[in-house]
Amino acid sequence: MPSSVQRLAGRIALVTGAGRGIGRATALTLAAEGAAVVVNDIDGDAARATADAVTAQGCRALVCVDDISDRAAALGLVVRAEAELGPIDIAINNAGITRDALLARLTAEQWDEVLATNLSGPFHVGQACARRMIERRRGRLVNVASLAWLGNIGQSNYAAAKAGLVGLTRTWALELGRFGINVNAVAPGFIDTPMTQAVPDPVRERFVRKIPLQRIGQPEDVARVIAFLASDDAAYVSGQCIHVDGGLGTGIGGLF
Ligand code: NAI
Repeated sequence: MPSSVQRLAGRIALVTGAGRGIGRATALTLAAEGAAVVVNDIDGDAARATADAVTAQGCRALVCVDDISDRAAALGLVVRAEAELGPIDIAINNAGITRDALLARLTAEQWDEVLATNLSGPFHVGQACARRMIERRRGRLVNVASLAWLGNIGQSNYAAAKAGLVGLTRTWALELGRFGINVNAVAPGFIDTPMTQAVPDPVRERFVRKIPLQRIGQPEDVARVIAFLASDDAAYVSGQCIHVDGGLGTGIGGLF
């Protein structure tokens, strides 16, 4: 959604997993606010399509097809992005996967894959960006967690990774604040993306009934909150995890 005031003009933003879903919406929203965008995704075609949409908005874009769960690839991504576009002001750790199974059936591979992408990936990318931001005494880090960090049946691996990501967010906020770096997280609820489009209709309908705002979220609902956290409007916000969930994670429901 184009904004009348471009809050991120002149900034450079890195978005992981920006080929589709929340990451793509975030890349486009940051570009609408004036930011140049490093578009990372393991899916090269999807990354290039997002980058084309960013440049169509008049902003610079760089495609980086790197697997952020691979430490060497993640570190290389940040080095290349800075060499080609310039210093990264804003890093959004968005890439994530699910491999759902009840605990009794969860395999070690499903555990390792989800932890590698959803927790170690943000550590690799966040650390590489933070080291540079510390030297420059400014920066914004936003981690895309999930409401599942509170716990969710069938998601031991995912919930553990996302709770870990909230822990990283809070710890980084404590360590990095003195260097002018704000660190926050968003915890989306049920958002309409390819990740959730596989959920059967009856389950989706059950979810909608539980959501106080009575609808499934759109990727842009999350992207706009991320853009706020990346902007000067959130200059005094750090260490927070903002639930973007239509109220789903609030309280214990009610009797009526
Ligand atoms: P999605 O599956 O639609 O898109 C994720 C993108 O990340 C894909 O383009 C994929 O190729 C890329 N990706 C996956 N692994 C990667 C890796 N190792 N390196 C680089 N790119 C990689 O997912 P969606 O729904 O847009 O989710 C984005 C983030 O939001 C994830 O962290 C997810 O856990 C989180 N989230 C999503 C919710 C939802 O309801 N859709 C709810 C709560 C959190």
